[in-house]
Amino acid sequence: MIKLYLPSAFKFYTVALILAFTSLNSFSQDIPSDPAAISAGESLFNANCKACHRVHQKLVGPALADVYNRAPSIDWIKAFIKNSSAVIASGDDYAVKLYNEYNKTQMTAFSSLKDDQIMEILAYVKAETDKGPAQAVVKTDAATTGTQGAGASNQYLNVILVGMVIILILLIVILGFLVSALKRFLDQKDLTEEEKEIVHSPISAGSIFQSSGFVFIVVFLVASLGFKTVINTLLSIGVQQGYAPTQPIAFSHKIHAGQYEIDCKYCHTGVMKGKSATIPSVNICMNCHNQIKVGTITGEAEIAKILRAHSENKPVEWVRIHNLPDLAYFNHAQHVNVGGIECQTCHGEIQTMDVVRQQNLLTMGWCIDCHRKTDVNTKGNAYYDKLVELHETATKKKTMKVEEIGGLECAKCHY
Ligand code: HEC
Ligand code: HEC
Ligand code: HEC
Ligand code: HEC
Ligand code: HEC
Ligand code: HEC
Repeated sequence: MIKLYLPSAFKFYTVALILAFTSLNSFSQDIPSDPAAISAGESLFNANCKACHRVHQKLVGPALADVYNRAPSIDWIKAFIKNSSAVIASGDDYAVKLYNEYNKTQMTAFSSLKDDQIMEILAYVKAETDKGPAQAVVKTDAATTGTQGAGASNQYLNVILVGMVIILILLIVILGFLVSALKRFLDQKDLTEEEKEIVHSPISAGSIFQSSGFVFIVVFLVASLGFKTVINTLLSIGVQQGYAPTQPIAFSHKIHAGQYEIDCKYCHTGVMKGKSATIPSVNICMNCHNQIKVGTITGEAEIAKILRAHSENKPVEWVRIHNLPDLAYFNHAQHVNVGGIECQTCHGEIQTMDVVRQQNLLTMGWCIDCHRKTDVNTKGNAYYDKLVELHETATKKKTMKVEEIGGLECAKCHY
C-alpha cells in the first residue's frame, strides 16, 4: 500500500512542479525580447511610468524588476495597468494586499495603452531586470558643489602662502650666514678703530624701523590690504554673479528638474502670468513628499524638514539668490510667456545644479545688451501684427529688436 502510494504522490508533485515551472516560464516567454520592442517600451515607460516606478528601486510604486514572475499573470498585469482600481475593487487578493502595502496610493489608469504596448513596457522591464541593478551611485556632492570652486582656490592660496613663508625663513638663515662670514673675513683685515666699531655694532630695532626698506614694506602691505577691501566691497554691491548660498533644505534642481524632469513651471507657478517667478510653497513639495519620505542621497534628514514645516504650518525660509535693486523693474511673464525666452538663457543650466548659483551679472548693461541683440518674438501674437507691418515698411527690415519697441527706455525698467 505504502509502496504504491509514495511513487504516485511523487509523480503527482513532479508533474505539478513541472507544470508550475513551465507556466512561470511561459509568463516571461510571452514577453518580446527584440531591441525594437525594448526601445519602444523604454520610451513608453519614461513617458508614463517613470514618475512613480523604477525597475530596481522602490519609488511611489514598487520596483518593477521581475514583476512578470511575481504578479498572478500577464493578463492580470494588463488589467491592472489599464485600470488598477477596478482590479482592486474586484477584491483580487494580490491587488488588495499591494494597494494596502502602498498606503492606498492610487496608480494612474492607463486605459489608452494597448496590449502590445504593455508587452513592450514589460520587454523593457525584463531587459533591465536581466541586466541587474546598475551601480547607480549618485555622487554625494549635493552640499559641496556650491563651495568647491572657492574651496579649491583657497587651498591654492594657502599653499602659496606657506611656500612664501618657507622661502622667507630660508632667506633670513642665508643672510645670517653671510653676515657672520663677512664679519669673520673683515676681522682678519687691518681695520681702523672706527671701521671695527661699524662692523661690530649690534643690529638695533631702532635702526630697522628707521631704514627706508622697512618703511617701504609697511606702506606696501597697508596699501594692498586697503585695495583688497575696496575691491571686495565694490564686488558685493549689487553684483552677485556666482552667488550660491546654502539653503535651509538641501533641495536639488539636479534631482527634481534634471533626473526626474519635473517642469520648472510646476513649482515656479508665477512665471507665465506675473512679475515674480515665485518659490514653491511647502504644499507643492507635499504633492510628492507625502509619499516619498526617503532620499537616495540625504536619506530621511532633509525630507523630514519638509514634513515638519508642513505639520507646523511654517513656511521654509529660502535664501533669495537673484535680486535686483528696488529701482529696477523686471517681469518674468513678459520674457518667458510673451518673449518666449528659455529660463536657461538667463539662469544657466539650473537642471544640472545641486545648489542654485547666479549665472549672469543682472546689471543694467546685461539687460540692455540682450535688448539690443534679441528679436521680438512676434509669432502668433496679434498684438504685434500691425507693428511688424509698419516696421517693415518703415525700415525695410524683416526683424524687430527689443530696442525698437522701447526696450531701452529708462521708464520701462525704472519706477
Ligand atoms: C501615480 C503613480 C504611478 C504611475 C504613474 C504608475 N504606477 Fe504602477 N503602481 C503604483 C502604485 C502606488 C502601485 C502599488 C499598487 C497600488 O497602490 O495601487 C503600482 C503597482 C504597479 C504594478 C504591480 C506591481 C507589483 O509589484 O505587482 C505594476 C505592474 C505597475 N504598477 C505597472 C505600471 C506601469 C507599466 C506604469 C506605466 C504605464 C505604471 N505602473 C504607472 C503607482 C504608479
Ligand atoms: C520641485 C520644485 C522645483 C522645480 C521643478 C524647479 N524648481 Fe527652481 N526652485 C525651487 C525651490 C524650492 C527653490 C528655492 C531653493 C533654492 O534656491 O534651491 C528654487 C530656486 C530657483 C531659482 C533661484 C531663485 C532665487 O532665489 O533667486 C531659480 C533661478 C530657479 N529655481 C529656476 C528653476 C528652473 C529654471 C527650473 C526648471 C529647469 C526649476 N527652477 C525647477 C523649486 C523647484
Ligand atoms: C513631482 C514630485 C516632487 C515634488 C513636487 C517635489 N519632490 Fe522632492 N523628490 C522627488 C523625488 C522623485 C525624489 C527622489 C527620491 C530619491 O532620492 O529616490 C525627491 C527627493 C527629494 C529630496 C532628497 C534628495 C536625496 O536624494 O536625498 C529632497 C530634500 C527633496 N526632494 C526636497 C523637495 C522640496 C523642498 C520640494 C518642494 C519645493 C520637493 N522636493 C518637491 C519628487 C518631488
Ligand atoms: C530674461 C531673463 C530671465 C528669464 C528668461 C527668466 N528669468 Fe528668472 N529671474 C530673472 C531676473 C532678472 C530675476 C531677478 C528678479 C528680481 O529681483 O526682481 C529672476 C528671478 C527669478 C527667481 C527668484 C525670484 C522670483 O522672481 O520669484 C526665480 C525662482 C526665477 N527667476 C525662475 C525662473 C524660471 C523658472 C524661469 C523660466 C520659466 C525664469 N526664471 C526665466 C531673469 C530671468
Ligand atoms: C535674454 C535676453 C533678455 C534679457 C537678458 C533681458 N531681456 Fe527684457 N526683453 C527681452 C525680450 C525678447 C523682450 C520683448 C518681449 C516681448 O515680446 O514683448 C523684452 C522686453 C522687456 C521689457 C518690455 C519692453 C517693452 O517695450 O515692452 C522690459 C521692461 C524688460 N524687458 C526689462 C528687462 C530687464 C529689467 C532686464 C534685466 C534685469 C531684462 N529685460 C533682461 C529680452 C531680454
Ligand atoms: C532694460 C532695462 C533697463 C533700462 C532700459 C534702463 N535701465 Fe537703468 N538699470 C537697470 C537695472 C536692472 C539696474 C540695476 C543694475 C545693478 O544692480 O547693477 C539699473 C540701474 C540703474 C542705475 C543705478 C546704477 C547703479 O549702479 O546702481 C541708474 C542711475 C540707471 N539705471 C539709470 C538709467 C537711465 C538714465 C536709463 C535710460 C537712459 C536706464 N537706466 C535704462 C535696467 C535698465
